[in-house]
Amino acid sequence: MEGKRSLRHKEIKGGGDIFLDNIKKGVVPKHIAIIMDGNGRWAKKRGLPRLSGHKAGLKHIQEILKTAQEVGVEYITLYAFSVENWQRPKDEVKGLMRLLKDNISNELERVHKNGIRVNILGRWHDLETDIIDELEKAVRLTSGNTQGTVNLALNYGGRTEIIDAVKKISHEVIKGEIGPDDIDEKMIGEHLYSAGIPDPDLLIRTSGELRISNFLLWQIAYTEIWVTPVLWPDFGRNDFLSAIADFQKRRRRYGGLDEDYG
Ligand code: IPE
Ligand code: IPE
Ligand code: MG
Repeated sequence: MEGKRSLRHKEIKGGGDIFLDNIKKGVVPKHIAIIMDGNGRWAKKRGLPRLSGHKAGLKHIQEILKTAQEVGVEYITLYAFSVENWQRPKDEVKGLMRLLKDNISNELERVHKNGIRVNILGRWHDLETDIIDELEKAVRLTSGNTQGTVNLALNYGGRTEIIDAVKKISHEVIKGEIGPDDIDEKMIGEHLYSAGIPDPDLLIRTSGELRISNFLLWQIAYTEIWVTPVLWPDFGRNDFLSAIADFQKRRRRYGGLDEDYG
């Protein structure tokens, strides 16, 4: 706990780095969720197969994780594969799963060395055994880390997550452990895949689409949204810091009024 808390108050080093200097004085979001979109278009623009786009997209995730850690973002949630993505051609799905598995296996050591904890959100136990093994290994190895958390949304759907939570709660009601009137926001939150993780402060979507695509439907009720036309494989450290700078200009009212209103 102590390690996590100290991250938030860590002084951000800037010193001539205009993007870093820009955010030094503001509040850094505790949790940033990212819809990593545009891999296919990135590849198409270059006359490459879609899988090359996915490969390029996975390659620089580390850069974003490192920047997040540098500025004190405690949680990063990455949308890697949705329950709807199974509708894509078999070859793309198969290739993407292999890339994901290899990427986790190749990057795990570095993630662990940097003190980052790995969580998986979604129906990931329905994936192929080799990828489940890799994911379990990542979760197990990093479970004690306190220098930041990365949540991978894999075989994830926001509606599916709510359905799974409702099922779990229903079983508890049937067993008599709780009554229907005990159900409130807190209880639903505690039965989601994201139990124990604060709601995202900022949601980033790359590649310009103005939609949520079934991501974290419950959790983003009051999340600030930032969309960039930049395609995910081109999205780098400075884009990430620009999103934070924009977040710092927002006024979050949660349905109330600004303190200085009137
Ligand atoms: C995002 O890139 C990665 C996944 C959805 C797995 P896309 O593959 O959706 O790229 P576009 O939207 O076709 O450009
Ligand atoms: C959202 O992107 C899912 C991921 C980034 C994993 P999609 O490309 O699947 O979303 P749509 O189809 O454009 O809404
Ligand atoms: Mg897409």
